[in-house]
Amino acid sequence: MQNTLNTLPFPSKKPEEYIALENEPVFSANKHLALEDPKSIVSLSDLGYGESEIADSPSNFGVCSAFRILSDEGVEVMRDLCRRMYSNRNATVGTGANRLGSYIRGAGYRSQFVKDFCDSPELAKHLSSLTGVSLARHSVPAVACGINYAPDDISKAVDTWHTDSVAFDIVMLMSNPDEFAGGEFQYFDGTKHEGQQLLGIDGEEGVDSELPSERVMTVTFPKAGYGFLQQGNQIFHRARQLTYKAERITMIPSFVVTPSTANDATNSVNMAAWEDPGIVPELARHEAWRASARLAQLIDDIDVTETATDLKERLDAALAPLEQFRAQLVSSSKLALPKNEND
Ligand SMILES: [Fe+2]
Repeated sequence: MQNTLNTLPFPSKKPEEYIALENEPVFSANKHLALEDPKSIVSLSDLGYGESEIADSPSNFGVCSAFRILSDEGVEVMRDLCRRMYSNRNATVGTGANRLGSYIRGAGYRSQFVKDFCDSPELAKHLSSLTGVSLARHSVPAVACGINYAPDDISKAVDTWHTDSVAFDIVMLMSNPDEFAGGEFQYFDGTKHEGQQLLGIDGEEGVDSELPSERVMTVTFPKAGYGFLQQGNQIFHRARQLTYKAERITMIPSFVVTPSTANDATNSVNMAAWEDPGIVPELARHEAWRASARLAQLIDDIDVTETATDLKERLDAALAPLEQFRAQLVSSSKLALPKNEND
């Protein structure tokens, strides 16, 4: 039986487009982590989110200053692995253009070291203490271990204004900050709704235009191996274009709120449209995992006096995210259904 406090294991097979690295060092928390606390934390309240939105969020934690995550040895190993995976980045394997210029999803399929880092209980415990909720490596491998590289065309932003499809993620700088210029990571000092409204966009996808400069905050990284945590689906953020061509690598590990019955901000409906190999089956596993946990809880909770109306509501609530994901598959081009099911 799955321990509901843990995340899902990776699928037994990796997508064939992803090339596994060989001869990697073995990850050791003692050797490769050097976890410190952030100097400052900005809450959702600080950004102007209202009480009901905060109550619906797993935590009032918004975003923090960059804190040390990797030891010097950890940085050396991780940066080398990021460089070794560059030639197998997603943009080169027919996954299609998207908001990101040059990136890897599912780095944990290619690198055991990266996977073990993202799975590290020491890291999860540290992040859980910052947010006040239990976090674990994200159950969708595509987003559990991501890497962003600077785009080849430096006139383009590294990443445009957007929110993320997951509740919590780290942005960890792997390059030396004094070896590139521009590429600043910035977030909007306000709610995502206000930021989106100012830019005239809906949903979470990005646009490369400017918000009022007095409301744009820049996160500074003292050195490589520092990163910050954000409630990514609430923080409106971007990474600016580089001033000149240079290496700028960030690692983006994402996390899921546990136990598996907890409210889940994973936006599987949005991610179902991504072109990355394996992403749709990964999302199906994730939604099946969370739905089965909610159903298991119902088995324990349902009382013999409950009315049909109450029971219907509880069953609907348990199944809603799974149903929404299924509906997205039906409505998207990813599913060629018999004609009567498309009607
Ligand atoms: Fe992001």
